[in-house]
Amino acid sequence: MEIVLLPTSEECGRVVADAVAGTLAETRERNGHVVLGLATGSSPLLAYGELARRHREEGLSFADVEGFLLDEYVGLPAGHSESYLEVIRREFTDAAGLDPARVHGPDGTSPDPMAAARDYEERLQAAGPVAVQVLGIGANGHIGFNEPGSSLASPTRVKTLTEQTRRDNARFFGGDPEAVPRHVITQGLGTILRAGHLVLVATGEAKAAAVAAAAEGPVSASCPASALQLHPHVTLVADDAAGSRLEGADHYRYVLEHKLAEQGW
Ligand code: GLP
Repeated sequence: MEIVLLPTSEECGRVVADAVAGTLAETRERNGHVVLGLATGSSPLLAYGELARRHREEGLSFADVEGFLLDEYVGLPAGHSESYLEVIRREFTDAAGLDPARVHGPDGTSPDPMAAARDYEERLQAAGPVAVQVLGIGANGHIGFNEPGSSLASPTRVKTLTEQTRRDNARFFGGDPEAVPRHVITQGLGTILRAGHLVLVATGEAKAAAVAAAAEGPVSASCPASALQLHPHVTLVADDAAGSRLEGADHYRYVLEHKLAEQGW
């Protein structure tokens, strides 16, 4: 795992944009088509803003990109402003010129969420592999909506949110945790680990314990993001506050300072 510690969240956004654009370009050259794994939440917003800016001002193209979301709430009506499909269009894909028909998520409106989860896993398998997957991290170490206790080999499935996650996400639902759906469909940890390159971004002190557990703790279902230690190509980008509990912080900064240009992201 490459751990990139940077002073500000703006710098984190630029590095994440570099990593995503770089892997998309390499994969396009090799495979002819590219799948981008999309995360919602506030963590990737600066990176999405930077990618959209490059699209607008520098001709970075997403026209041939197929986008797949990590997760979706169960039970919100189609088109609900907080459904992740709506959120990602509003906050990134429209501004990046990604055709809405090429942006996919689990069907949280299905009367049979279990079947919708299996169907999404199959759609991902058919379209994949995901070239680069953007990830945030929850304060309890969740990625996607894989809460603590998630199998490290899990496929896309229905999960029940912790009360903590519902409280964390209440800010998007008028401040009322009870308005946050209790169930979700999320790519599993096994699904996420199939992507070619995982780019996790974390900012702010509230993420410091989760980042340290993910990168330096034991690989354990108690911290779902620790599954990233099993993947051969992970870039963990954190600002100083989110990285403040990493024991190896000085070493990671030293490695970054002496990084060879050829090493890329
Ligand atoms: C949410 C999402 C995750 C996200 C995480 C952190 O509930 N399902 O994909 O990474 O929690 O969110 P934020 O980036 O807003 O802190």
